[in-house]
Amino acid sequence: MSIKNTLSNPLTGLAIVISFSLIAIFVAAYLTDLKKKQAKNEVATTMSSIKVSIETVVKLEESDKRKKKPREICNSPECITLSYQLLNWKDSNIDPCDDFQKFVCGKYPKDSEPGNSKSIEKDEKIVPRISDFLNKSDSSDSKSENLMQLYYKKCLENSEKNLETFEETQKLWYQEIFSDIRKVGSWPSAEKNWDESKFDLNEILSKMAESRILNFGLFKLQKDSKSRNLNLVAPGSLRWNKKILEGILNSNEFSTESLEQDLQDVDAFSKKIQDLKNENSNFEDLESLTSHIPSIDFDEIIRKFAKQDEKIEEVLRKKIRVGGSELFFGKHDNLENILKTTSNRTLANFLILKFVQEAVKEIPSDFRSSKSMDCGKIAIHHFPQTAIQIMTKNYDDKKENLKTVSKIFDDVRDSYIEIVRNSTKIPNESKNTILDKLKNMEKKIAYSKEDLDLDKEFGKLDFSTTDSYYTLSKKLIRFKNDKILEYITEESLLDPQDSIQSITPFYNRSQNSMLILVPITDDPVFGPNYPKSSKIASIGSLIAQAIGESIDFTGQDEQRKCLIDQYNQNESGNTHNQTLLMNNLVSQQYAMEATWQTFKNLDSSEERIIPGFKEEDDEKLFFQLYALNSCGQNFNQLFSNMKKFAEVFNCPAGSPMNPDSRCELF
Ligand SMILES: *[C@@H]1O[C@H](CO)[C@@H](O)[C@H](O)[C@H]1NC(C)=O
Ligand SMILES: *[C@@H]1O[C@H](CO)[C@@H](O)[C@H](O)[C@H]1NC(C)=O
Ligand SMILES: *[C@@H]1O[C@H](CO)[C@@H](O)[C@H](O)[C@H]1NC(C)=O
Ligand SMILES: *[C@@H]1O[C@H](CO)[C@@H](O)[C@H](O)[C@H]1NC(C)=O
Ligand SMILES: *[C@@H]1O[C@H](CO)[C@@H](O)[C@H](O)[C@H]1NC(C)=O
Ligand SMILES: *[C@@H]1O[C@H](CO)[C@@H](O)[C@H](O)[C@H]1NC(C)=O
Ligand SMILES: *[C@@H]1O[C@H](CO)[C@@H](O)[C@H](O)[C@H]1NC(C)=O
Repeated sequence: MSIKNTLSNPLTGLAIVISFSLIAIFVAAYLTDLKKKQAKNEVATTMSSIKVSIETVVKLEESDKRKKKPREICNSPECITLSYQLLNWKDSNIDPCDDFQKFVCGKYPKDSEPGNSKSIEKDEKIVPRISDFLNKSDSSDSKSENLMQLYYKKCLENSEKNLETFEETQKLWYQEIFSDIRKVGSWPSAEKNWDESKFDLNEILSKMAESRILNFGLFKLQKDSKSRNLNLVAPGSLRWNKKILEGILNSNEFSTESLEQDLQDVDAFSKKIQDLKNENSNFEDLESLTSHIPSIDFDEIIRKFAKQDEKIEEVLRKKIRVGGSELFFGKHDNLENILKTTSNRTLANFLILKFVQEAVKEIPSDFRSSKSMDCGKIAIHHFPQTAIQIMTKNYDDKKENLKTVSKIFDDVRDSYIEIVRNSTKIPNESKNTILDKLKNMEKKIAYSKEDLDLDKEFGKLDFSTTDSYYTLSKKLIRFKNDKILEYITEESLLDPQDSIQSITPFYNRSQNSMLILVPITDDPVFGPNYPKSSKIASIGSLIAQAIGESIDFTGQDEQRKCLIDQYNQNESGNTHNQTLLMNNLVSQQYAMEATWQTFKNLDSSEERIIPGFKEEDDEKLFFQLYALNSCGQNFNQLFSNMKKFAEVFNCPAGSPMNPDSRCELF
């Protein structure tokens, strides 16, 4: 992995879901402790006040207020979470002067990675607001909002039904599902004399692709989480609900006679697939898959996905990466073998059952579950970008997040300007260029990409008010899968699975502008209740890094060489692109310096104290927060190059974090 990649997600550290019970225990313990301390303080104050005259007390209190008003302790859940992480992820057996990153993150629960930040459909404050908005009767002038509203209202209708009307609706859904099954192929369990010889595996797969199904049961396609690629990987196991299958057969007046035996056969087949699933992390190309599994016509599937457009087909073909599973490439047994040794009836049943599994995903399976549907959450889950649009158009407090980020950007930029101006090591010629660039850098701070026209993106989704909830769901899923494919082939900007939670800034060199997308939820670092220093260490450092990367460092050859030698000395045998690596090291060193400066410029008297820490811990805490935000990475080299760090932690000369020679850029 390149250094760029390892650095691209500095928020993972904070994006950890912490068990509430742990926090609860911690809070309880902490609050008890706090009470004790307060009680002690009160006693002490009372005792001393008795001894001095009233006049002195008044004077004392006044000067106390002027000199140092005691700073508040931050008792918000956010601060307590932060305190929990600081105290519990740290490895106290490690000396911070030996290995700071390990000192801060030594007990960081790696298995809870990566867990992206909390999605908005889980945000307790957002769900009721969006639900209220959607429940209003008036329609909006935005197409995507109207679609979302229609979906929400259809969903609500389900929960308003009584048992009898629910069963009627369910019967209609099952009839619609069966007619969709017919479009894909024939279902042996539903046919009296099913004809083995008429079965055509590739015809069913092709029809499934036409219906924009991405999970075929034999393999599945999914968008890579980090890139615009489509991964073809081994599928999860097939699941069915026998009641639903019987319901579909009964609602369409078919016998359920052969169902039991068919299900047993399908189950045995499905188990064979799962047994071969074990995947390694390699990716193979499509050609090698086609040669291993000639029974499946993958080309036809891709053609269907590409809507017969040859150019798109070409792009798509290049974007597909095949997971190195035994199922596909196994030497002894593999999908090709299983397909060859399984009866046509079982294969057909298996594929239809997979189709049904995908079809019934969004509809309630029985009366009881229809009552417990949270339609607000469901609508937000399906229309995340629209939800963000609604929140930012209608709820003012979310605009605060924009202001916060905007202010942090300004502060970080000012710090950069100060550092560059004061530097004795940056040559005078490049100084002016850098300063010019910094002063003129434009900022664009928004919740979503401005060039993303949601209504245009949703243009192809044709909901009708007379559609059933099943039909709406079906159209929506197909639309989204289509969007995934368009996103992969770069026909569309919208990644339908993107909940837009990223605050990694984008720098546009030709415009000298920085675009920062602000997440709308308060997690993981956003809450107004986080202390400022923590926001600077998290959001500030991300912005500082982006600004650092935007600067062209010329003329500091000596310092650059120093950094890279230092890096290579520790990490021998690496194959990084040395130019790229060097620029990265430089921009990170800049970023850390600028973030530190921003923190130093903060008026600390207004800062609330993180529970479990003291006022005088501020500076240490800043470095700890910086490291905490990046527990997956190692910033030791950067810390060790900062003289200030060694001073704050009082590191003995010559210790790893206070080396005799440093690479100093400023
Ligand atoms: C939606 O609005 C109607 C009336 O305007 C109200 O009776 C109903 O409780 C609301 N439903 C939800 C889920 O908010
Ligand atoms: C099973 O289907 C294949 C086509 O996919 C066909 O060639 C074969 O004859 C069928 N098997 C039987 C036993 O009918
Ligand atoms: C930069 O220089 C000015 C004036 O000499 C000084 O007040 C300021 O503290 C310096 N800033 C830094 C970051 O060294
Ligand atoms: C830059 O210019 C200042 C005076 O304007 C001078 O004192 C300083 O030495 C110069 N620095 C470098 C690195 O050339
Ligand atoms: C950067 O800005 C230029 C000029 O406005 C624009 O044409 C280009 O698309 C932008 N690049 C990116 C990656 O947004
Ligand atoms: C290393 O990265 C630089 C900057 O992106 C690039 O110009 C150069 O061609 C790369 N060198 C190699 C060997 O990949
Ligand atoms: C170099 O590596 C050693 C051990 O692998 C580690 O303890 C030390 O912190 C590293 N130093 C720097 C500057 O990264």
